[in-house]
Amino acid sequence: MASVELRHVSKRFADVSAVEDFSLETSEGEFIVLVGPSGCGKTSTMRMIAGLEAVSDGQILFDGEDVTDRLPRDRDVAMVFQNYALFPHLNVFSNLAFGSQLRKVPRADIEARVKHVSRMLGIGDLLERRPRELSGGQRQRVALGRAIMREPRVFLMDEPLSNLDAALRMEMRSEIIKLQERLGITTFYVTHDQIEALSMGDRIVVMLGGKLQQVGTPMGLYEQPLNSYVAGFIGSPPMNFLEGVANDSGVTLTTLNARFELADRLLASLRQSSARDLLLGIRPEHVLLSDRPASDGVYTLSATVDTVEPLGHTILVRARLPSQQLLNVLVGGKISWREGDKVHLIMRPEHIYLFDRTADRLLCGLPG
Ligand SMILES: Nc1ncnc2c1ncn2[C@@H]1O[C@H](COP(=O)(O)OP(=O)(O)OP(=O)(O)O)[C@@H](O)[C@H]1O
Ligand SMILES: [Mg+2]
Repeated sequence: MASVELRHVSKRFADVSAVEDFSLETSEGEFIVLVGPSGCGKTSTMRMIAGLEAVSDGQILFDGEDVTDRLPRDRDVAMVFQNYALFPHLNVFSNLAFGSQLRKVPRADIEARVKHVSRMLGIGDLLERRPRELSGGQRQRVALGRAIMREPRVFLMDEPLSNLDAALRMEMRSEIIKLQERLGITTFYVTHDQIEALSMGDRIVVMLGGKLQQVGTPMGLYEQPLNSYVAGFIGSPPMNFLEGVANDSGVTLTTLNARFELADRLLASLRQSSARDLLLGIRPEHVLLSDRPASDGVYTLSATVDTVEPLGHTILVRARLPSQQLLNVLVGGKISWREGDKVHLIMRPEHIYLFDRTADRLLCGLPG
């Protein structure tokens, strides 16, 4: 177990800047999730922590000790990859035992450890099988088992579940959470899937274009995303944005010929800034559909139902504004609206996020 710190870490590959000035301090046993679009530098960051890739700039510390120039094997890090990287010609026992054998651990100790780890992961009766004789989920467990054969100081998992189907993903997700809690090993976990990120991370690191955008707890990122990118990335379907311009005590929506009076909390944060061009954000779960416009103090926009998509426990309605912009609306329960129906979208001021559009910066998130 170790606390891990990255200090102004950068990685350049020839003319590509993969990671730029990345700084993060973690505490011992923390579960950190890295998210962001393809190519944003997640794997490069993980490989630098593992020592598989040299940093171009900056330092990496484990428990306050500089490990920047240490070889991977001297860092005591275990890594799980998306493609499992199991040895196809070895059975499960040998796959699990491989690393310990290399390190010349006594045979009896290896056997005891394999037994313990394979039981913990529910693969104790599969030790004689080769990887190709296993299901995807079972292979994934073997890959995890290999990583925990020795209790490393740091766990690195790079999209370990992306080869699995939805149901299995969910099952493995909760197993990894339980396992990590039980072992208490500091973990970095990469995923594309923001639902996975929200459900697993003690803290989430959102990256874009090699740069760290924001670090926070799942609820922290949901309630106070620092810019519109993070706001749009965390939450599914993503937040809706409306462009506007500040005037007096309100905001005029640029494309809609509508004006909203701003609630006190929004107005106060607007006045503390010099922002003029604004972005109002509202999440799909906070927009209400109605046949009638709302009473005072609540924002209403008229729209036309574009599509209705049942998602099981909720329904996603895409509503088209007169400007042609589509807004996502999540509705619980049954609805009678159909494509082409006229509706009103009702939004409460306490659900509005306010961004400075020019600086792309949050002015005011949800009240805490
Ligand atoms: N060995 C390399 N040589 C040159 N460029 C590289 C190398 N490895 C990564 N890159 C580049 O660095 C950037 C970051 O890559 P990285 O693999 O870290 O992204 P990622 O966030 O893990 O993406 P994905 O979600 O697709 O796995 C990309 O532009 C990539 O093309
Ligand atoms: Mg990657």
